[in-house]
Amino acid sequence: MTAPVRENLSGLDLRAEIERLRKERNAVILAHYYQKPEIQDLADFVGDSLELSRKAADTDADVIAFCGVKFMAETAKILSPQKTVILPDMDAGCSLEDSCPPEQFKRFREAHPDHIALTYINCSAAVKALSDIIVTSSSAETIISQIPESQKIIFGPDRHLGGYLNRKFGRDMLLWPGVCIVHEAFSETELIKLKAQHPGAPVAAHPECPPHIVDHADYVGSTSGILQFAKSFPGDTLIVATEPHIIHQMELALPEKHFIGAPGADGNCNCNICPYMALNTMEKLYIALRDLAPRIEMEEGLRLAARQSLDRMLDMASGTVGKGDLGRA
Ligand code: 13P
Ligand code: SF4
Repeated sequence: MTAPVRENLSGLDLRAEIERLRKERNAVILAHYYQKPEIQDLADFVGDSLELSRKAADTDADVIAFCGVKFMAETAKILSPQKTVILPDMDAGCSLEDSCPPEQFKRFREAHPDHIALTYINCSAAVKALSDIIVTSSSAETIISQIPESQKIIFGPDRHLGGYLNRKFGRDMLLWPGVCIVHEAFSETELIKLKAQHPGAPVAAHPECPPHIVDHADYVGSTSGILQFAKSFPGDTLIVATEPHIIHQMELALPEKHFIGAPGADGNCNCNICPYMALNTMEKLYIALRDLAPRIEMEEGLRLAARQSLDRMLDMASGTVGKGDLGRA
């Protein structure tokens, strides 16, 4: 586990200090929608995995302060090796990445030599290096539709996203058995109760949710897709089946509407807060900008190998933001 911040920072105006360091370091602060509201509010850009990858590839900044999880910061380093990439807490991992050790994934690939590996971005750089094409939840649909139906595919590490794509596209991809512990925790029973309390309220779900949750959804898509759906649905109440910190952006954009996080088994949506994303705090962001650490470092051979599958994603996904999503209205 990460050591708690031991310095006494109580006299500091953290927001002002982060602002000062951002300028001094010529840093850009990128944040995922699952970050705490105070981090989202000071970020230069808040987005989904694909949008954040594109921003990291395009930035002129010298330093990328990545407020997200480690595979996202690694992606930034792979795409922008000349930049200093810092992650406020190096223990900010992901259960999907943990489910897919590179040696086991390599054996899985070797057992299926006639399959290509289409791999969700939620994995280590080593697994990216073993893959042919990376996808995010907002680029998967556009990318899969460019792969001939006769081509055999293995898909990892998220079996729910892979299963969703199989059902939607009539594919037969072999699935790695990983899951996101956060999306796995939604309760169908509690969701049905919530829907009964809010008749007519649509449900928007991330495709990392298991089928028994996705089957109740009026819209299925990436975090940015869900946000777009929240901005366009005609009603006044939306049930949101993904990590609840995204609701912050919905409330900022649509203060007159009502957004309810889908519940976990105890009827309380707090169990759906991503424990990895939650490790990043304002204190740790300040220290990371001050010390330029913890820093993502990567051996060049690994970086170049991982870059190939990421570049294929960026090429195949180009022009997809906002239309090539997994959306199902
Ligand atoms: P998005 O690409 O939809 O933002 O998803 C990232 C993620 O980790 C969801 O759990
Ligand atoms: Fe990983 Fe799930 Fe957290 Fe996303 S929400 S970073 S998939 S553990």
